[in-house]
Amino acid sequence: MTDTTTTADTRAVSDVPLVRALNVSKAFYGNEVLKGIDLDVREGEVVCLLGPSGSGKTTFLRCINQLETIDGGRIWIDGDLMGYDDRNGQLHRLHDKRIAAQRRDIGMVFQRFNLFPHMTALQNVMEGPVQVKGQGKGESRAAALELLERVGLQEHCAHFPAQLSGGQQQRVAIARALAMKPKLMLFDEPTSALDPELVGEVLAVMRELAQDGMTMIVVTHEMSFARQVADRVVFMDAGVVVESGPPAEVINRPQHERTRAFLSRLHAEEEHRREAIEDPLHGNDH
Ligand SMILES: Nc1ncnc2c1ncn2[C@@H]1O[C@H](COP(=O)(O)OP(=O)(O)OP(=O)(O)O)[C@@H](O)[C@H]1O
Ligand SMILES: [Mg+2]
Repeated sequence: MTDTTTTADTRAVSDVPLVRALNVSKAFYGNEVLKGIDLDVREGEVVCLLGPSGSGKTTFLRCINQLETIDGGRIWIDGDLMGYDDRNGQLHRLHDKRIAAQRRDIGMVFQRFNLFPHMTALQNVMEGPVQVKGQGKGESRAAALELLERVGLQEHCAHFPAQLSGGQQQRVAIARALAMKPKLMLFDEPTSALDPELVGEVLAVMRELAQDGMTMIVVTHEMSFARQVADRVVFMDAGVVVESGPPAEVINRPQHERTRAFLSRLHAEEEHRREAIEDPLHGNDH
């Protein structure tokens, strides 16, 4: 075994797991939503998480970045046990301050852009470093401008969210998350609230981020993105990982009936949407 493997698009992925989730369980009011999830994500790896509505994808991402507590199992990020102190096998919840510090290493981008509406694009991107990290305004501003340029929005830095398209807002949201210099980026259906013509620009930014070596877990139903960018696709259903593997294997040759059923439903929905775009008058009739 070598230290690194090289993916099809020549990205280097290390053998070291940056994320290690072990037997993670979570219930809401007795409803078991995660039933023992195991997942390792290596540094530089891009993992796409797929699964039907209600399968627990969002909950799992929220557990990784400590927006939810977990009922069982453990999650490590870069060797750091998230949310708890392990004293001889007994877990003790960390203080909020320690948890906040752990969370700073993780960027999250949601389906809805969640920008501060009263702040410009530039102010949105500067806010975290200034408020949370106590960085100077000059330094934060320079870094924010660079990030906005990286996501193709240098001309929009003075615009407020309401003056930006959904795709532009989502790119600001990505720049805002990157401003905290995260080790890991979590994306929860980042393009599913966008008009179809705006999806590509957001995926392009994510693709570049992957190429630059960012470790990413992406909940998405964009199969072409998963095929081209993901190192691994993980299919979840009803709170368990059903199967995982290279995209071509999971997407083209799923081993489990549940994966097959999900993918063929997804495929039918995609066809339907395409017809609706190509033939807006009749696409929705059948
Ligand atoms: N805060 C909560 N309180 C109670 N139940 C919740 C809460 N959050 C999620 N759930 C339940 O947990 C289950 C999994 O939800 P989750 O949002 O993780 O699914 P998902 O795979 O992200 O679905 P979708 O594709 O629709 O986004 C659902 O049955 C949901 O109703
Ligand atoms: Mg979800």
